[in-house]
Amino acid sequence: MSDSPRPSSRPDFWDVRYEQDRHLFGAGPNAFVKAAAHRLPPESAVVELGAGEGRTAAWLAREHGHRVTAVDFSEAALKTAQERAEAEHLRLDTVRADVRTGRPDRQWDAAVVTFLQLLPDERLHLCRLLKTSVRSGGWLLAEWLRPAHLTGPYHRIPYHRIPYHRMGPSRADRMVPVREVRRAFAGERLASVEAVDVHLQAGPHRTGDAAVVRGVVQAGGG
Ligand SMILES: C[S@@+](CC[C@H](N)C(=O)[O-])C[C@H]1O[C@@H](n2cnc3c(N)ncnc32)[C@H](O)[C@@H]1O
Repeated sequence: MSDSPRPSSRPDFWDVRYEQDRHLFGAGPNAFVKAAAHRLPPESAVVELGAGEGRTAAWLAREHGHRVTAVDFSEAALKTAQERAEAEHLRLDTVRADVRTGRPDRQWDAAVVTFLQLLPDERLHLCRLLKTSVRSGGWLLAEWLRPAHLTGPYHRIPYHRIPYHRMGPSRADRMVPVREVRRAFAGERLASVEAVDVHLQAGPHRTGDAAVVRGVVQAGGG
């Protein structure tokens, strides 16, 4: 899969973006993960897939004392994540890996994934990886842009049809339908899997109105 014709499927595409723009998706944590993090017992072992510069991973370590492993295939992103953790005296393990291949070599208490917008067949592997990465009773927190982000519908404000803001992939096959998330985790306990319209504030490239799917899933609880 590493020979994918899509530039955004390659680590060098992301390396260039992260080198050009430090804190590409902001410095603070992902808002959904921040709101859902109360589910995780303190000092949990947490893995974040597609963790980027570790904005959420660092927050989980700092605020809750979790032992966090940040996985990404971009060397530049993980370098920033590591530098930020060192500056804050946080323990953060970083692993450079492609989530489209391989299996976890251990299990965590929780897995986090935000805006890792893979292609459909790649998402099948990602969801399997997420399920096998979390111990029974552990948690999965996931957020993606969903297809409506590109196709509408527009906000239902009379006479003001405001589209979602331009952000994320430009092609629909990278958007994640709600039904796909429900199907992928059908054997687990779906605490909530819902389509939500939100206002994101996550750096210069992810600020504005967005159509997302958010999942809070407990492993092995189905
Ligand atoms: C849109 S960014 C989101 C980063 C982070 N989750 C956040 O919300 O700030 C997507 C991230 O996924 C990483 N990524 C994309 N495809 C990947 C893959 N196949 N394996 C590992 N990381 C990947 C990119 O390097 C990038 O850091």
